[in-house]
Amino acid sequence: MSSTAAASRAASGDPVLALDGLTVSLDSAGRRIPVDNVSLEMRPGETLCVVGESGCGKSMTALACMGLLPEVARVRSGHIRFQGRDLSGADARTWRRLRGDAMAMIFQEPMTSLNPVFRVGRQVAEPLRVHRGLGKREALRRAGDLLEQVGIPDPGERLRAYPDELSGGQRQRVMIAMALACDPNLLIADEPTTALDVTIQAHILELLADLQRDRGMGLMFITHDFGVAEEIADHIAVMYAGQIVEYGPAAQVLNSPRHPYTAGLMEAIPGQEEPHGALPALAGRVPELGHWPPYCRFAERCPLARARCRAGPVTLEGGGGHLSRCLFSDEVSPEIWH
Ligand SMILES: Nc1ncnc2c1ncn2[C@@H]1O[C@H](COP(=O)(O)OP(=O)(O)OP(=O)(O)O)[C@@H](O)[C@H]1O
Ligand SMILES: [Mg+2]
Repeated sequence: MSSTAAASRAASGDPVLALDGLTVSLDSAGRRIPVDNVSLEMRPGETLCVVGESGCGKSMTALACMGLLPEVARVRSGHIRFQGRDLSGADARTWRRLRGDAMAMIFQEPMTSLNPVFRVGRQVAEPLRVHRGLGKREALRRAGDLLEQVGIPDPGERLRAYPDELSGGQRQRVMIAMALACDPNLLIADEPTTALDVTIQAHILELLADLQRDRGMGLMFITHDFGVAEEIADHIAVMYAGQIVEYGPAAQVLNSPRHPYTAGLMEAIPGQEEPHGALPALAGRVPELGHWPPYCRFAERCPLARARCRAGPVTLEGGGGHLSRCLFSDEVSPEIWH
């Protein structure tokens, strides 16, 4: 895409993705709700980091946005709007047309989307052939360009390699190249760097940030690492037990978190050990799906919890676009964890 097109895309301001009360259930009785009433919005050129521990519903949210929920799950209520278009009831054909084209996803484990029996070039060229109707030669040439853009040395050579001939970092880059092939408006990256060593992780983050800025693409970046969010996020959504518990502009969330869970995750950033060497830990664990209390879901782990927190569900509230699901958000500070 030309830089003018990118600029006008970035300036257009309409959300590239808007979730409105998205609720995903795993059974018809509605006891297991991995994604519970999630609303968020992402504008072109913006990076939204979705942060939370394992099992909080980050991937389910992402998969719903791509029409890729597992067989057992379904959208129970709410809306998924992509560039203003409601996709909540979209059929398989509509999703297939969008995926890999206007929207794309990078998975945590590259081998989820790379097929071990096909050469890398063929796989990166595939979306260009399917969505852009390019011939084999032209698509392969573009695939080579894409590999070069994502920083793979010897792209011509690498096109002929099989996925298992590449390092983990290179496979991750190949996935990024594939996802970017058709210049998507929305890219969802689900913990794309957790399996990589720190240096490669830093390179990939930089690469994504550059590409995203150049292309005016909306990036949803899922991570359990607040350090990563600190580096790349414009907005941050913190998820706990299927719900958003804090949401707002990154600077506000990072500088003055308004949910104890957010403050706890931030205190647990790796490398930020206490002076005596102990890692400040969020004691306890996320309650099991289907066993969420009918009141604040974080109460059992929360240093601020008191009787009112167990009286009923807590709503997501706040001013200036900074929302928190905590009755005592004014009391939140890093100190509550020490
Ligand atoms: N295919 C599935 N079938 C049944 N339950 C599932 C399936 N996939 C996920 N779940 C459950 O849904 C809940 C949310 O899972 P999800 O994968 O969205 O979590 P996550 O926040 O992405 O966690 P992680 O950080 O481990 O990737 C979890 O309780 C999980 O066990
Ligand atoms: Mg996940």
